[in-house]
Amino acid sequence: MWQIMKVFLLQILPFLLFGGGIYCQASTRRFTFVVKEASYTRLCSTKNIITVNGQFPRPTIYAKKGETIIVDVYNKGKENITIHWHGVSMPIYPWIDGPKYITQCPIQPRSKFSQKIILSFEEGTLWWHAHGDWTQATIHGAIIVYPKNGTKYPFPKPNVEVPIILGQWWKSDVNVVRDEALATGANPNASDSLLINGQPGDLFPCSKLGTFKLTVDHGKTYLLRIINAAFHEALFFSITKHKMIVVGTDGSYTKPLTRDYITIYPGQTYDVLLEANQHPNHYYMAAKTYSIISEACNFYDNTTTTAIV
Ligand SMILES: *[C@@H]1O[C@H](CO)[C@@H](O)[C@H](O)[C@H]1NC(C)=O
Ligand SMILES: *[C@@H]1O[C@H](CO)[C@@H](O)[C@H](O)[C@H]1NC(C)=O
Ligand SMILES: *[C@@H]1O[C@H](CO)[C@@H](O)[C@H](O)[C@H]1NC(C)=O
Ligand SMILES: *[C@@H]1O[C@H](CO)[C@@H](O)[C@H](O)[C@H]1NC(C)=O
Repeated sequence: MWQIMKVFLLQILPFLLFGGGIYCQASTRRFTFVVKEASYTRLCSTKNIITVNGQFPRPTIYAKKGETIIVDVYNKGKENITIHWHGVSMPIYPWIDGPKYITQCPIQPRSKFSQKIILSFEEGTLWWHAHGDWTQATIHGAIIVYPKNGTKYPFPKPNVEVPIILGQWWKSDVNVVRDEALATGANPNASDSLLINGQPGDLFPCSKLGTFKLTVDHGKTYLLRIINAAFHEALFFSITKHKMIVVGTDGSYTKPLTRDYITIYPGQTYDVLLEANQHPNHYYMAAKTYSIISEACNFYDNTTTTAIV
């Protein structure tokens, strides 16, 4: 009897009251982010970093335009934290970035806060990252917003979609790098390598095995969701012998633009179509800083990070 009542209350009654359409539209997705330390090895040395769910980078949030996302953030780390939903325009809802807007009142260690993100206008690629000291260095990931039900991409549907997150790695603890810079007043030390999806790539020691590899089928189209999560490095990004068709940026679509490479600034995102139309082989993807190397700019990481298509 209770089962029948439950079905009536939860499914039939709302249908009668609001009609099927409205009932279906109330679409909310829920994610759990546990902020905690994890041990990672890069460039032949190991350290503890602060992560979400033990992952770096990631996790990826997948949603559709118009949906509401609830993220339950549990802070099991040692530092204050807020998570910022980069590029989401939500002026009417002030709790987006934490208990009180951005840094005023962070999620403290051993506490929880549920963040609500309403995706109204955005479609394409956005991202999220931590605020508070240098926690952003290892706490970041993609937000991929698909078209609404019943609508389509303004370009041919890609066969596969792939987040490509550009980041930075310091062998030292990032808080020590920051404290040293604050104490001396000098620029913080440059990172020891740039990263593609958390990996320096095979030009670096101890990095060959982990190098990010994108295996493609000849003739298929791949939508790369490219994010620059580095602190202050404007980056060039390209793929050997392949054109990049830019079809979107910062959570909205653009007129298609075909290029050999892109320049992506910190915080920017690009949606890029990659057609696997070359002779089957291994091709490098690479990113490198766009900077003027001078005394004043010695905090730029001038290494090249790679991945393989
Ligand atoms: C979109 O369609 C899926 C099934 O294809 C359904 O689960 C979902 O609730 C729909 N979302 C909206 C907003 O109507
Ligand atoms: C964490 O945030 C609380 C509340 O804003 C503040 O009192 C405390 O000093 C912060 N702790 C650190 C380590 O910054
Ligand atoms: C920063 O770089 C200097 C010079 O290479 C080095 O002596 C120092 O240990 C570095 N600091 C950290 C925190 O890695
Ligand atoms: C990178 O920068 C360092 C320090 O500024 C410099 O010594 C080195 O030659 C640069 N390397 C490249 C490949 O430009």
